[in-house]
Amino acid sequence: MSNPLKILVSRRWPEAVETKLRALGEVTLNEADQALSQAELSQALTDYDVICPTVTDRFDADVFQAEGIRTRLLANFGVGFNHIDLSATRRLGIAVSNTPGVLTAATAEIALTLILMTARRAAEGERHVRGGQWQGWSPTHMLSTQVSGGVLGIVGMGRIGQAVARMAFHGLGMQIMYTSRSPLAESVARELSATRLPLAELLGAADFISLHCPATPETRHLINPETLALMQSHAFLINTARGDIVDEAALLAALRNGQIAGAGLDVYEHEPQLQPGLEALEQVVLLPHMGSGTQQTREAMGMRALRNIEAFAAGQALPDEVKP
Ligand code: 8YV
Repeated sequence: MSNPLKILVSRRWPEAVETKLRALGEVTLNEADQALSQAELSQALTDYDVICPTVTDRFDADVFQAEGIRTRLLANFGVGFNHIDLSATRRLGIAVSNTPGVLTAATAEIALTLILMTARRAAEGERHVRGGQWQGWSPTHMLSTQVSGGVLGIVGMGRIGQAVARMAFHGLGMQIMYTSRSPLAESVARELSATRLPLAELLGAADFISLHCPATPETRHLINPETLALMQSHAFLINTARGDIVDEAALLAALRNGQIAGAGLDVYEHEPQLQPGLEALEQVVLLPHMGSGTQQTREAMGMRALRNIEAFAAGQALPDEVKP
């Protein structure tokens, strides 16, 4: 009988998934549930056949300099894989899988939550009530911006962008515009009455810009002083994708000088650190990278990672192989 697969899970997963995972080999859990250091990741590459990382594990090129790498699969817990250097995995013949599809609805819900919270001043209102400042109802108290019927500009029309568009169009009667590498299928474009525009035009036309593109060298700081200047002064920026798509210092400046009306953020350039100053702005809603964070979704993500490990163990093609 061949040796059991040595599997490292870099953070704690929902219990139901960890229980199932144990049947697949000799499993090591990160009991402390702390992000692993670069040195620990390097060591893990020499000790384990399979590593199950998350967004908090930075598999940079340096980590792969380790001698005698044993790992053959990185089964990522998450759909985004910008924390893994794919040129290194390709060079070393390490397969990479992710968990697409299962987190689409949950992440779209958080984007919608941020759209509604920023425009309707929900977090600010909540702070107001909790802080004991509320003096009672008045016709002009805490007036905000109506979302229904507004123009939603989506940057990146993949699975999550489309899910947000559907919720916004069917639920809130928003007008959908988008920018994306490829156009929507005609039936979807028709369903959503969606118009495709170049980024500059989209930024100028939308009341809400919601980011749903992957983090790549091309999308790094896509939102920067120049692109922020194209947005309307009553518009809101929503980011549930990846922090470094936005130049956070530029965003802070644009918010401070009223260039845009507000922002809803679930991801940050240097997570979990914020650009100092953001926390002081009432017109900003800040969430702790919880887009996919429902019990159901995190279990589904784990099960999806598991499916890839099972296929790997059986010598089959990975159902969710990330192609470099
Ligand atoms: C996850 C995400 O929470 O899947 C992704 O790409 O951003 C989040 O939903 C995180 O990445 C888990 O590793």
